[in-house]
Amino acid sequence: MSDKKRVYIFDTTLRDGEQSPGASMNTEEKIKIATQLQRLGVDIIEAGFAAASPGDFDAIRRICEVVDKSTVCSLARAVDKDIIQAGESLMEAKRKRIHTFIATSPIHMKYKLKMSPDEVVRRAVSAVKLAKTFTEDVEFSCEDAGRSEIEFLKEILDAVIEAGATTLNIPDTVGYRLPQEMGEMIRKLHAHVGQRAIISVHCHNDLGLAVANSLFSVMAGARQVECTINGLGERAGNAALEEVVMAMKTRADVFNGYETNINTKEIYPSSRLVSAITGIEPQPNKAIVGKNAFAHESGIHQDGILKCQETYEIMHAEDIGLEKNRLVLGKHSGRHAFKERIEELGFDLSPEDLQKAFERFKVLADKKKEIFDDDIRMLIASEITNIPQAFELVGLQIADCSSGVPSAAVTIRHDGEEITDAGIGDGTIDAIFKTIDRISGHHGLLKDYRVEAVSQGKDALAKVVVNVKFDDESSAVIGHGLSIDTMLASAKAYIGALNSYLSMLPSGCQIDNCEGV
Ligand code: KIV
Ligand code: ZN
Repeated sequence: MSDKKRVYIFDTTLRDGEQSPGASMNTEEKIKIATQLQRLGVDIIEAGFAAASPGDFDAIRRICEVVDKSTVCSLARAVDKDIIQAGESLMEAKRKRIHTFIATSPIHMKYKLKMSPDEVVRRAVSAVKLAKTFTEDVEFSCEDAGRSEIEFLKEILDAVIEAGATTLNIPDTVGYRLPQEMGEMIRKLHAHVGQRAIISVHCHNDLGLAVANSLFSVMAGARQVECTINGLGERAGNAALEEVVMAMKTRADVFNGYETNINTKEIYPSSRLVSAITGIEPQPNKAIVGKNAFAHESGIHQDGILKCQETYEIMHAEDIGLEKNRLVLGKHSGRHAFKERIEELGFDLSPEDLQKAFERFKVLADKKKEIFDDDIRMLIASEITNIPQAFELVGLQIADCSSGVPSAAVTIRHDGEEITDAGIGDGTIDAIFKTIDRISGHHGLLKDYRVEAVSQGKDALAKVVVNVKFDDESSAVIGHGLSIDTMLASAKAYIGALNSYLSMLPSGCQIDNCEGV
C-alpha cells in the first residue's frame, strides 16, 4: 500500500485511555500494552504525558527501549517545561514525536487560559519551535477544536505549519460535534491546509459519536485517527480503535482505497490485554470486541449462518483474531507445549518470565482440570510482572463467618521475613484487607472491587481487580489476583496493588500550574 492511501492509526490508550476513571497502569503494564500495540501495527503510540509525574516520564522512557517500529509520542502542554520533559522522555526512541496542544475555543481561551487569541497563537508557535529542537516530527492539537471558530483554526494552523508542525490534530474534546458537522469542518481545514501537513482527528464519545465522527473525518480528508483500544478514555471515552479499523476494512467501498496498516487479527488479543490490565471489561454488546459481538443466539440466525455465513455476519470472528476459546493444556502438558501456545497467543516473554509463567501454570493446572486460552492470557497479563514484590502472600486462612465475626489470618513475606497477623472486618474481604494493612503499615482505601470468572467450567478462575488509594495519595492503583478461590484472588489483588503503589513512589501529579493550558 502506498503511503498516499494510508490512514495512520495513532493510539492513545496509554495516555487518554489512562485518563479513564480507574484505569491507571504501572510502568510494566504500560510496556506490555505498548509491545502489543506495536504488534497490532499501530503507527504512533502516545505513551504518556511526561510532565504529569515522574512515573509517566519513566514509563515513556522505558517504552522507547522496547518499541522499534511504531513512533513513540509524548504529550506536552504548550509550555517550555512540558516540552523539554517530553523531549527528554523520548531520548532513546527510534522514532519519536512530540505532541503539543493548547485550547482554541472561545470558552477555553477566555475562562481557562485567560489569554487573547493572539497570545494563544504566539504560545502555539513557540511550543512547536521548541519541540522541533528535539524532533522533526511534531504534532500540534487545537484543544476543543470542536467548539472553535473555523477562521481562527485556519489562522493558528497556518502559524504552526510555518513553525514546523507536521501533523495538525483537530480534537472534538468534549464530544460535541455531529458526524456531518465534523466532516464539514475537516473538509474545510483539509482544503485550506492542502499538502502542507497531515490532518488528524481525535474524537470523544460523549454523545456516542466518536467513531462516526472519526469516519466522517476520514472521508473528508483526515489521514490520521486518534483512538484507543476498547474506546477507553476520559469520561465516555475516545473513538474505539477496533471499530474505526473494522469499519474501514468492512466498508472499504466507501473509503476510496484508504486503508490502515492494522493487523486486524491482533485486535482481540489487544482488547483482552487492555481489559485484563485495567480491569475494565467492554460491555457485552460492544461492537467488535464485546462478548456477544459474534454470538448468535436466535435459531433463525444460527440456521442462516450454517447455510451461508454472510447471511448474518458482515465480518468474521477470525478477522479480529477471535478463535474459539481453545482448550489448551492440562497438568501433563510440558514446558515445550506451553511455550508454543504462549507464542501462538502472541506473547514474547523473556526466559525468566517464561519460567515464571510456566511455574504459575503448573500450580494452576494442579487445581484446574482444563486450561483455556483466556486463562493463559489472564495469567500472563496479571501475574507475570517485573515490579518488585515488596510484599508476597504466603498464606491465608479465613474463619467460617456464617455465625461469627468475619476474620482472616494472613502470612506475608517481606524483606525475607514471614509475618503473620489476624484481624476482623465487616466482611471476610474487609478482614483480609485490614490485616494486610496492619502487616504492611500502609493504609488502603478500597475504591473499587470487581470479581469475574475467566473462561468456563465450574472450576473457572476468579479474576479479582481492586482499585485502591494508599496512604491518602491522590491517585489510586490497580491490583489483580487470579485464583480458583475468590478470597485468595482478593488477597493477591490487594497485595498486587500495594506492590504497584510502592513501585511508583514517589508518585502524584507534579503539574504545578494546571491553569496554564
Ligand atoms: O481531547 C483532547 O483535546 C486531548 C488533547 C490533548 C489532544 O486529549
Ligand atoms: Zn482527548
